[in-house]
Amino acid sequence: MHKSIIALGIESSCDDTSIGVIKVTRKDNTLVSEKLGLVTLSQEKLHKGYGGIVPEIAARAHSERVDTCFKKVLKENNIKLYDIDIICVTQGPGLIGGLISGINFAKGLAFSTEKPLIGVNHLVGHALTPQMTDDLSYPYLLLLASGGHCQYLAVLGANEIKRLGTTIDDAPGEVFDKVAKMLSLPIFSGSEVEKWAKKGDKSRFSFPLPLINKNECDLSFSGLKSSVRRQVDYLVEKQSGLYLRDQRDICASFQKSMKLIFEQKTKKALELFSKVSSVKSLSFSLAGGVAANKEIRNSLRELCDNLGVRFSAPPLDLCTDNGLMIAYAGTQMYLGGQVDDMDLSPRPRWPIDIGNQHSLGFGKRGRKV
Ligand code: KG4
Ligand code: ZN
Repeated sequence: MHKSIIALGIESSCDDTSIGVIKVTRKDNTLVSEKLGLVTLSQEKLHKGYGGIVPEIAARAHSERVDTCFKKVLKENNIKLYDIDIICVTQGPGLIGGLISGINFAKGLAFSTEKPLIGVNHLVGHALTPQMTDDLSYPYLLLLASGGHCQYLAVLGANEIKRLGTTIDDAPGEVFDKVAKMLSLPIFSGSEVEKWAKKGDKSRFSFPLPLINKNECDLSFSGLKSSVRRQVDYLVEKQSGLYLRDQRDICASFQKSMKLIFEQKTKKALELFSKVSSVKSLSFSLAGGVAANKEIRNSLRELCDNLGVRFSAPPLDLCTDNGLMIAYAGTQMYLGGQVDDMDLSPRPRWPIDIGNQHSLGFGKRGRKV
């Protein structure tokens, strides 16, 4: 690599249309990245009334907005189309309609400008994100916890990622969203639960910690979700509704259970990781929307400090889905020799670790990979 590479990254696998532009330069054998621009168009308002993401609405919104998003990121950051060297796009996993919109747009750009096209695995995008902001070299252990996924990944190289554990049922972000809905909070999101938990009593309810004593790092959240549901139903039956105090206390107690599950499972995952990585000083990082939760983030930071493990976590806007992570991961794929052609097609179910078995269970995007 003789000069810097300017990469465009298009992300449209779920409910945000996001395009980022990044400049990547090799310095002393490491890649240094500089954010040139990022525009994310949220679909939160479009799906709000439905209690979840409606795939058809998401697909239509992506196809209508991807062009606007592209023009906006260039204009706001004074970037010219001819400045861009490579076009990277999320190829999967995700909702097929959104993936098609992003891929078709990327193909059009690559074809008309004769620039290389690179299809990127969304999960690899999350897995490499911490390198953008922290001086983090391979290998490291990553916890990817989002609305569609929950996995402990041994990131040994850009194309060598091993899954050490995964959820066997729901994804944690999905459960945060459902708890917000059960409690009728103003927004059905984990960030809202976190907000309400601040004024709650976390010791009032003791919710279960599924799989906590199993000597592996697979996770389970559906029992915790059902237990919150039963508690809500019980209180509604007994008092004919929920008081503000109940909502806050349930949020705080539920969040505490989530934190304890992640603490225990991260301990187990670090033990496993030390065996597969064979390095003395371990590094641990977080990615995905749930990594934005300060209580979970801080407790994992503390755990790592106590175990002498290096901790890093990307800033909040890079934890959630974004085009920059696709641009950065795409650059690494390109440097590794990957260039795709006009046959590039969406892969809605694309496991990050091909050698690993599928897990049981379904999430909001179907069977877990
Ligand atoms: O990674 P992401 O943007 O999208 C995917 O699901 O791939 O993650 C979104 C998820 C949502 O379920 C949202 O409720 C959750 O991350 N989330 C949070 C917080 N902020 C976002 N969960 C807990 N605490 C938060 N502060
Ligand atoms: Zn994601």
